[in-house]
Amino acid sequence: MSNKKKLLRYADLGKYKNVFEPDFVNSSDPFSLKGFWAERHFENTNPITLELACGKGDYTVKLAALNPDRNFIGIDIKGDRLWHGASQVERMNLINTAFLRIDINYLRSYFAESEIEEIWITFPDPQRKSKQQKKRLTNPRYLEIYREILVAYGKVHLKTDDEGLFEYTLATVSSEGCELMEEIRDIYAKAELRKELKIKTYYEDKYLQDNRPIHYLSFQFPS
Ligand SMILES: C[S@@+](CC[C@H](N)C(=O)[O-])C[C@H]1O[C@@H](n2cnc3c(N)ncnc32)[C@H](O)[C@@H]1O
Repeated sequence: MSNKKKLLRYADLGKYKNVFEPDFVNSSDPFSLKGFWAERHFENTNPITLELACGKGDYTVKLAALNPDRNFIGIDIKGDRLWHGASQVERMNLINTAFLRIDINYLRSYFAESEIEEIWITFPDPQRKSKQQKKRLTNPRYLEIYREILVAYGKVHLKTDDEGLFEYTLATVSSEGCELMEEIRDIYAKAELRKELKIKTYYEDKYLQDNRPIHYLSFQFPS
């Protein structure tokens, strides 16, 4: 995409009322929706699911359409990608979604303890080099953050094409004392697949064109 198009989308993003771009660098005020997402933004008490590294927000949009009785928030740092999800949500008139443009490292500044019921991590950057381990979104450092903002027995789902990240996550889940709920390798080789696992993201489509198998796992934290 040209830089000009990207800039236009950044500018356009501000017009969507379900998109939040807090100024986390210059602001010392607490984020007004922290602890109040359901009450102040969604205006209901339905459970909230996050999609981390959501890119164009494919899971956020499609899960929201499938589950009108739940709320969904897509999170990514790149505004031009979020623009796709935000504009789609407006066209579809999905009132149970929001997008948040922040760095995932600062999740604690935007969500209170136990505010979230589920987290989806969709095709995160695998950070293959061992010195990049800390940046993997399933590193223990991140799991500690997720544990804090999730309800007791809150669930984390991971979809990836990256064997290394998948194995690393399985090992981390075990070493951190989490409970592995489901592990499916090469999901599309399965005859029957739940609707939510059939949702395909932008990157997933690319990996499938390259014949890369897609893996899925989910886990829970101990209470
Ligand atoms: C490979 S893309 C996957 C996008 C989307 N989930 C998909 O499958 O099409 C990884 C995404 O992670 C986002 N990302 C990486 N590190 C991040 C961070 N610390 N905070 C927020 N977003 C991040 C990038 O901006 C990018 O959109």
